[in-house]
Amino acid sequence: MPNTATAATAQFAGRTINRMGYGAMQLAGPGVYGPPRDRQAALEVLRAAVAAGVNHIDTSDFYGPHVTNQLIREALHPYPDDLVIVTKIGARRGEDKSWIPAFSAAELTEAVHDNLRNLGLDALDVVNLRFMFGHLGPAEGDIEAPLTALAELQRQGLVRHIGVSNATAKQVADARRIAPIVCVQNLYNVAHREDDALVDDLAASGIAFVPFFPLGGFTRLQSDELSEVAAGLHATPMQVALAWLLQRAPNILLIPGTSSPAHLAENLAAAGLVLPEAVLGSLDRIGRVAADA
Ligand SMILES: NC(=O)c1ccc[n+]([C@@H]2O[C@H](COP(=O)([O-])OP(=O)(O)OC[C@H]3O[C@@H](n4cnc5c(N)ncnc54)[C@H](OP(=O)(O)O)[C@@H]3O)[C@@H](O)[C@H]2O)c1
Repeated sequence: MPNTATAATAQFAGRTINRMGYGAMQLAGPGVYGPPRDRQAALEVLRAAVAAGVNHIDTSDFYGPHVTNQLIREALHPYPDDLVIVTKIGARRGEDKSWIPAFSAAELTEAVHDNLRNLGLDALDVVNLRFMFGHLGPAEGDIEAPLTALAELQRQGLVRHIGVSNATAKQVADARRIAPIVCVQNLYNVAHREDDALVDDLAASGIAFVPFFPLGGFTRLQSDELSEVAAGLHATPMQVALAWLLQRAPNILLIPGTSSPAHLAENLAAAGLVLPEAVLGSLDRIGRVAADA
């Protein structure tokens, strides 16, 4: 692990934000569909996050659909000046909870307007174009037409900054030739290190890398190394996983997701956890073992 980066804040989308943010996907119902199991708890988590200093929230209108954006609006509107809300477009939901690619200019325009309406905004801070060329994970595919359509929405003033998600390194490079890109949001965590080189390339260019599934997502991270390091530091394995990401590179911004106020507090506290050099080698092995498996 070549980089250590312990700064609490970073420059992102023209503002100074805390690197420990919050991802709202877990607030929708089961299968990221429908209303939350506990609506009051969902509103409480959002308000507690912002009260604790979170000023970077990740969402999408396809969570629910519309559910997380409407919860964010109810909990937090009118928004604090320093809050950066990042959303994503490129999919719509089927009634069977499926995720359906939605990349035409008309669909992307509709998605931007859905996000504006449900969040109660005149312009979106950051919109990630989420690619869905493969069944699972990033896959090559031509991004020029959808990214050009999103750049046109930016030209119209509806979108301030553009990012990409679920992108290959080639797609990131292609995207950067079409429009200025402020962030890349891909699957990455202490056990899934496929984007190691991309993280370093983006760090060198001052572009944020925002890992989704920082805690493993639907399958929570589990490893003996994580548990042992956590026990030695009087922390939890989830806190160690988040602290590892913060130390991995200065351009990494975190958006761990939770529907639980207790987990939120635990995750936010990880911003203050410094991992000593001595444990980094053992954590590094988690990714290598997972890659060999
Ligand atoms: N661009 C994309 O394609 C994409 C894909 C997926 C997600 N995302 C974004 O990335 C964000 C983060 O991903 P994610 O929420 O799916 O996964 P995650 O942050 O890796 O993990 C969330 C899971 O971990 C649990 N959890 C959270 N904190 C915990 C703690 N301290 N102890 C134990 N369990 C804990 C949550 O359950 P509880 O609710 O019980 O805490 C939930 O099941 C999402 O919210 C979303 O905004 C983007």
